[in-house]
Amino acid sequence: MIWTKSLETGVPKIDEQHKELFRQADNLVDKNNAAKVDATLTFLKGYVAKHFSDEEILHRVSAYPKAELHKKLHEEFSAALRSLLSQFQQATNKQPVILSINSAVVAWLREHIMKHDKEFAVYYLAKQQAGAKK
Ligand SMILES: [Fe+2]
Repeated sequence: MIWTKSLETGVPKIDEQHKELFRQADNLVDKNNAAKVDATLTFLKGYVAKHFSDEEILHRVSAYPKAELHKKLHEEFSAALRSLLSQFQQATNKQPVILSINSAVVAWLREHIMKHDKEFAVYYLAKQQAGAKK
C-alpha cells in the first residue's frame, strides 16, 4: 500500500500516524509470516485506538462541530476491526482473513482520510491561523 501526497491532511501529528498505519498494513501482505501478522494485528489494535483518541482530542480542543459524527465513524471502524481480529483468531485457514484485514484497513483509511480527516484538517488549520493572528 503506497502512501501518496494526496492523503496528507497538513496536520503533522495526524499525517505521521496515518503513515504508520499504512506501513503496518503493509506487513499484512506477507501472509506467510504468521508471527509477523500476529504482531502486526496486535500492534494495529492498540495503535488505531491511540490514533483515534489523539484525533478526537484535536476535535475537542478546537470545538469541531462534526466531532460527534467523526467519533462515531471511528467507533464503527474499531468494531469492524475487532470483529476481523476475532475471525482471524478463530479461523483455521487464516490467509483469507489476513487479506480481508489488509484491504479493510487500507480501504477504510483511504476513504476516511480523504473525506473526514481532511475536512477536519481544513477546519483545524484555519482555526489555528485565526488564533495566531489575534
Ligand atoms: Fe479520523
